[in-house]
Amino acid sequence: MKILGLHASNRTNELIEQQRPTMIANRTKNFRTGSLLFATACALLSTGCNKKESSNEIVIGEYGSLTGATATFGQSTKKGIEMAVDAINQSGGVLGKKLRIVIEDDQGKPDEAQTVVTKLINKDGVVAILGEIASSNSLAAAPVCQGSRIPMVSPGSTNPKVTAQGDYIFRVCFIDPFQGLVMAKFAANTLKLKKVAILRDIKSDYSVGLADFFKANFSKLGGTIATDISYSQGDKDFTAQLTAIKAQNPDGVFVPGYYTEVGLIARQARKLGITVPLMGGDGWDSSKLWEIGGEALNGCYYSNHYSVDDPNLILQKFVKDYKAKYGSTGDSLPDAMAALGYDAALVLADAMKRAGSSRPDSVRAALAQTKGFMGVTGNTTLDSNRNAVKPAVVLEVKVDEKGNGRNVFKETVAP
Ligand code: PHE
Repeated sequence: MKILGLHASNRTNELIEQQRPTMIANRTKNFRTGSLLFATACALLSTGCNKKESSNEIVIGEYGSLTGATATFGQSTKKGIEMAVDAINQSGGVLGKKLRIVIEDDQGKPDEAQTVVTKLINKDGVVAILGEIASSNSLAAAPVCQGSRIPMVSPGSTNPKVTAQGDYIFRVCFIDPFQGLVMAKFAANTLKLKKVAILRDIKSDYSVGLADFFKANFSKLGGTIATDISYSQGDKDFTAQLTAIKAQNPDGVFVPGYYTEVGLIARQARKLGITVPLMGGDGWDSSKLWEIGGEALNGCYYSNHYSVDDPNLILQKFVKDYKAKYGSTGDSLPDAMAALGYDAALVLADAMKRAGSSRPDSVRAALAQTKGFMGVTGNTTLDSNRNAVKPAVVLEVKVDEKGNGRNVFKETVAP
């Protein structure tokens, strides 16, 4: 058996080495073929896939933006996942083994996401992968996981296309058709807005999708779209777009982007005399938003996966443990990524336990059966499209003159 295992490992390594240059050069299209070969090799040589896994540990991969324009997404997710893994290991691990997590920084770039996920699978021999947060990065890496038959659980990617990449791709959060509806209803019914402008990030699958879902729902509710214009992730000057928006005189602006650009947009909008509420989605969730946008963010609202003010006991214990572990300043309150990362790791461990195995195909089958798993972000039940169906919260941003921010809970919207 031992000799066979060793042989299998070496053979798999050879296959991977032969495929690696092609896989990296040819991106998604050929990933499928390359990874399929790899997966077939693994199926034939069943011990080959877990070559780095010793008998007393289960190796899981995590990829995220630890650096770059969405760095807090990756950093918070990492904290949440590490907290969950520590807790799991302290209470005996999974199937009598310790979980070991291998973490890769994709710098928030889709190409990097694809590269690091390939490395996690082919070099580290992970049996499952946690990540990403930003939908475009998940979309780039999901075909690699699918092709290699390695389950991937995204903590926070909300674009519907992510889990549509295949039956090995899961998420523990709601999706954007729902998030768009939540904010359209909030704009129309709670804020009583009639005419809203949209400013979307054309480079982000998340932003484009959420803008479309908001638009469709707000129109259905009787609202008018004043104008719908775009910017590109990384832009610093939004004067042209904001001037065009101001000319339409809207009573609100929907900006479904990520915190770095949203902070700048808020500042520049106020400077140009746009005083109406800005609204957005979960991509706003970062303590960096307060730092970048400052007081310009007062009177702005966004939808999110959870609120630290929710009195739910599991959630409050998580907030307390998180603060104890990572410090107790405003910054170290767990954001949605921390909570979703924590839940994603627990849901994965739970699937392994139910499967009675850490084999990727068994874990995949068990993940698909996830029902009523109670975590920090509520009840996780995965539907037939491998999406969680969960409530959303709407938060109001409050920032003082010193730049200290907090999110004030406004309402919960059930799915
Ligand atoms: N939902 C965002 C996306 O799909 C990412 C995100 C999740 C941001 C959770 C913040 C909180 O790109």
